[in-house]
Amino acid sequence: MAEGTGNRAIEMEKQSLMSSNMSGATTAPQVTVVEAYDEMSRLAADVVQSTIESAPGSAMTLPTGDTPRGMFDELVRRIDAGVVDFSQVHLFSLDDYLGVSIDDEASLTRWLRDAFLIPGDIPEEKLHLIPADADDPHAAAERYEGDLLALGGLELAIVGLGPNGHIAFNEPGSEPDSRTRVVDLTPESREQNAAYYTGDQDIPSQAITMGLGTILSARRIVLIVSGEGKAEILSRSLHGPMTSDVPASWLRLAESRLEIIADRAAAAQLTLT
Ligand code: PGA
Repeated sequence: MAEGTGNRAIEMEKQSLMSSNMSGATTAPQVTVVEAYDEMSRLAADVVQSTIESAPGSAMTLPTGDTPRGMFDELVRRIDAGVVDFSQVHLFSLDDYLGVSIDDEASLTRWLRDAFLIPGDIPEEKLHLIPADADDPHAAAERYEGDLLALGGLELAIVGLGPNGHIAFNEPGSEPDSRTRVVDLTPESREQNAAYYTGDQDIPSQAITMGLGTILSARRIVLIVSGEGKAEILSRSLHGPMTSDVPASWLRLAESRLEIIADRAAAAQLTLT
């Protein structure tokens, strides 16, 4: 099926995930499979754009990592072209290492700043950065949740998928009702993230992350996934048991509020109806 988004035609297939709880196709998450990374990025940018158009002052969270880089590049192009206006958006960051400041090389907030906040000229007043270097991170995490609640919760959460099934830094063991909190990182995630840097980057052993419950309460959740390296974990997340061993599997609790945008390589092991 070919669909137009703006002046580009993106080849994609929209399909439903087979509903594991037999609740019927209408409540099943929707999976959109696109040919490659660039299309995934443009579709994710489309979701951000349409969310802003329908609810300009809403709260949203966007991820960091290799997966969303193309989405941010696309959003910056649209901001420059005047088609996307972030001036009213309350942007909440998803996660960061505990105790790092934005000046730290490893900081994910710094990554977000360099990839999007500066190039997109995002106004500071409506930015809500996860309190990674707060004196009392536990109290600050509660305030973060309170700030989000005061704004009516998340209109949109775009998230990536970790190789171990983590969502943000909700590592294996995370419960679906978890909220913003301090977490221990698995060796696997620390290794994954060390690979983002050249040279010997010391990755902290703890992080602060928006919880699965926080993300699950968003009115729209979009999981973006790219590359064959994610094919197996995506399949386990969508077809396997809902379990804390694979935190992403809990996203299915959102039923039709969840959409997956995957490129063909990442979707290779999915069974779609
Ligand atoms: P990646 O990370 O986008 O760099 O693959 C995803 C994640 O760990 O959430």
